[in-house]
Amino acid sequence: MDTLEFDISEMNAPLRYNLLISLVTPRPIAFISTLSDKGIPNAAPFSFFNLMGNDPPIVAIGIGKDETRKNDLKDSGYNIQKTKEFVINIVNESILEQVNITSVDFPPEVDESEIAGLTKLPSIKVKPPRIAESPANLECRLAGTIEIGNTRIILGEIIYLHIKKEFLDHENQTIHTDLISPVGRMHKNGVYTRTTDLFNLPRLSFKEWEAQERNNDKM
Ligand SMILES: Cc1cc2nc3c(=O)[nH]c(=O)nc-3n(C[C@H](O)[C@H](O)[C@H](O)COP(=O)(O)O)c2cc1C
Repeated sequence: MDTLEFDISEMNAPLRYNLLISLVTPRPIAFISTLSDKGIPNAAPFSFFNLMGNDPPIVAIGIGKDETRKNDLKDSGYNIQKTKEFVINIVNESILEQVNITSVDFPPEVDESEIAGLTKLPSIKVKPPRIAESPANLECRLAGTIEIGNTRIILGEIIYLHIKKEFLDHENQTIHTDLISPVGRMHKNGVYTRTTDLFNLPRLSFKEWEAQERNNDKM
């Protein structure tokens, strides 16, 4: 099959963005709530986001620079830099429309969660509020910041979890992710995917792999 080649380092930023966000999919969405240094609540979605490790539990979020804002930073980035705390509210289909409203470029003095009709609840270990309508909330403390070109990568340590009762599987000490129905961001602005089409493919230990190979040889 023919392959096309692109020198990504020479490419203009919009084209690079289009190509790369189309390939790295689906991306989970962190709906981040913060407080400004003056105590104004802020909320916005970020899909350059993932869980990076478990011991300690670390998340990473990529926030783009925005020259129209204070210090070139989106409000979420600015608030996290100042207060060192934030909450990641998990996004499912039932709150996606409201989350999308909070992504509008509102000025810093606007509380996006209020405009979107979302409810704020107090957090336990951090000052920024959590969003009541979200199926789960991860309270985070800033663990590090990496500045590369026009991207600020925020590393956060998760220090507290809230989850709605109906989503916890007490018996198996796990979470009914299928009931949460988280959504992911796809290849174009405004395109999302559901997480309902699941299938199983267990990861094998080396011993299990060897046994499987022996069985295949016998056939
Ligand atoms: C689903 C979704 C995901 C987004 N992901 C990102 C992202 O990863 N990084 C980013 O800089 N902006 C992202 N945005 C845009 C921000 O949400 C938008 O710039 C917002 O106004 C930032 O708000 P703030 O200034 O209150 O922090 C995303 C928008 C949407 C709708």
